[in-house]
Amino acid sequence: MTYEENVSQQGGLHSRKGSPDWWLFFTKFLRHGTKIAAFVPSSPWMAQGVVKGIDFSKARCVLELGAGTGPITSELLKRVKGSCRVLIVERDPDFCKRLRQRFPEADIAEADALNLDQLLAERKIDRLDHVFCGLPLPSFSPESRDHVLDIIARHLSATGTFRQLTHMPWVYYPLYRRYFTRVDFHMVFRNLPPAGFYVCRGPRAAVTDPPQLAPMPGIV
Ligand SMILES: C[S@@+](CC[C@H](N)C(=O)[O-])C[C@H]1O[C@@H](n2cnc3c(N)ncnc32)[C@H](O)[C@@H]1O
Repeated sequence: MTYEENVSQQGGLHSRKGSPDWWLFFTKFLRHGTKIAAFVPSSPWMAQGVVKGIDFSKARCVLELGAGTGPITSELLKRVKGSCRVLIVERDPDFCKRLRQRFPEADIAEADALNLDQLLAERKIDRLDHVFCGLPLPSFSPESRDHVLDIIARHLSATGTFRQLTHMPWVYYPLYRRYFTRVDFHMVFRNLPPAGFYVCRGPRAAVTDPPQLAPMPGIV
């Protein structure tokens, strides 16, 4: 029986009962707290939402940062077409083991996202069409966050998107507006706990020159 069949027999990847991914994630959260930043993996609704609207037939390379146990990875790999490359980056060795069980064909780098430049150079990737980010960027130091987002800004294609998951709906809207000229927030009520994602476009050249921010939508 494959890993996916085994999990599916136990009630699905996002099931609350008996799911190995749920348990692995929860115990990691208890041990590492803000480095994991969520106590359950993203739901299928989150995964389907965050890839929605993307024409994968036009994408040459997509990147996932902070894949965890792979709910977004699974949705991505179902949708990418033909020669589109997919690079998955995850720092935790147990999560990487789980990802490799689930997706034996995928390019999974067990690495710190801070080394993204090197990971892209090794693979001769010079352009990213879409970036799916589960990293807890708000809890990174400002220098580390600038570093990761600067690498993304240098590689993101003109029509590319940076999609950031969050469990704190709208709260970090101003943060992402510092880095991107356009930021839209999408709520996923069916995720448990309710969560969402930002779709960011147009990286700013210099994050040291913060824009005048418009009021946050949905917050008074
Ligand atoms: C909130 S979880 C998201 C997991 C998954 N994307 C999901 O939606 O269920 C954050 C993930 O980022 C990983 N992570 C945190 N800091 C990282 C870093 N510096 N480099 C690579 N991965 C990191 C954690 O190990 C964890 O798997």
